[in-house]
Amino acid sequence: MPAEQAVRLSFTVVVDNNVDVFLPSQGPLQYPQPGPKSMLLAAQGFSSWLEVEGPDGETTRILYDFGRGGAVLPHNLELLGIDPTQADYLVLSHGHIDHYGGLSYLAAKYNLRTPLVTHPRSFGERGVRQAGGGVAGPWLLEQKETTAWLGQAPILAEGPTQLGPGLWVSGGIPRQSPRDVLWPGGLRRQNGEWQPDSLEDDQALVINLAGRGLVVVTGCCHAGVFNTIAAARAICPGVPLYALAGGLHLNFLDAGQLEGIVAGLLEENPGLVLPMHCTGALAQQVLRNRLGARCPFTTVGLTLALD
Ligand SMILES: [Fe+2]
Ligand SMILES: [Fe+2]
Repeated sequence: MPAEQAVRLSFTVVVDNNVDVFLPSQGPLQYPQPGPKSMLLAAQGFSSWLEVEGPDGETTRILYDFGRGGAVLPHNLELLGIDPTQADYLVLSHGHIDHYGGLSYLAAKYNLRTPLVTHPRSFGERGVRQAGGGVAGPWLLEQKETTAWLGQAPILAEGPTQLGPGLWVSGGIPRQSPRDVLWPGGLRRQNGEWQPDSLEDDQALVINLAGRGLVVVTGCCHAGVFNTIAAARAICPGVPLYALAGGLHLNFLDAGQLEGIVAGLLEENPGLVLPMHCTGALAQQVLRNRLGARCPFTTVGLTLALD
């Protein structure tokens, strides 16, 4: 078994915009059921827990993103039986507050001393262009803050960085695919001026799972679905896409643009697409209609278990 492959993956949604405890578990998808997990909280944002086992039985545990803030993340972690002190890495997908906002509270609550892996451009002051011409925000994440929260400097990953057997954080993702329609609403404040934000910090987790293929986990996917898949392929050439899971940021697309995304995904022919968070309810509905059983419902507490 080459060290470039993982042999088992467990992926659990910890924070998402949606919660539903009435979905039947099936195959590798285990949904939360009524009972204690009825108390799981939905919130605008994203966080997920991954356990990735290598060929020698060693497991790398990752908390990928931290939700919008407050007590939601530790509340859901506790209900899901996940101990964040067991994480080998904390990984931030990009510097938007609905992904980093819960980190300071979590780090303080659990006295976390875990390395944070992120892109150097995830730090800085960000905003969002509003329809009426205003700016939502600003939200500021500083490198020195995360260093203080976690007692150590972050690992700055500009390019692909291997975190375990068959497990990488993508690093910055080149924008190449004509199929992607990139969200134009992001702003970054530099020298006191708001500028369009190219979101070059956006990065995905890439798992090369033996016998399945690539599992790509996204935070907001601001780099675009097909650019992100291409970045995963560049890390693991020749490996087919098995699953795409996470926020896909398709909420601003019109019907024609969505159709282009669907057509591209049908060509990619993944076994599973799990659209969450900023994908948006309308785009989720279109994806489910068009991809059928390969695009199941998503919720906080969903676990995808693959070996
Ligand atoms: Fe974002
Ligand atoms: Fe987001």
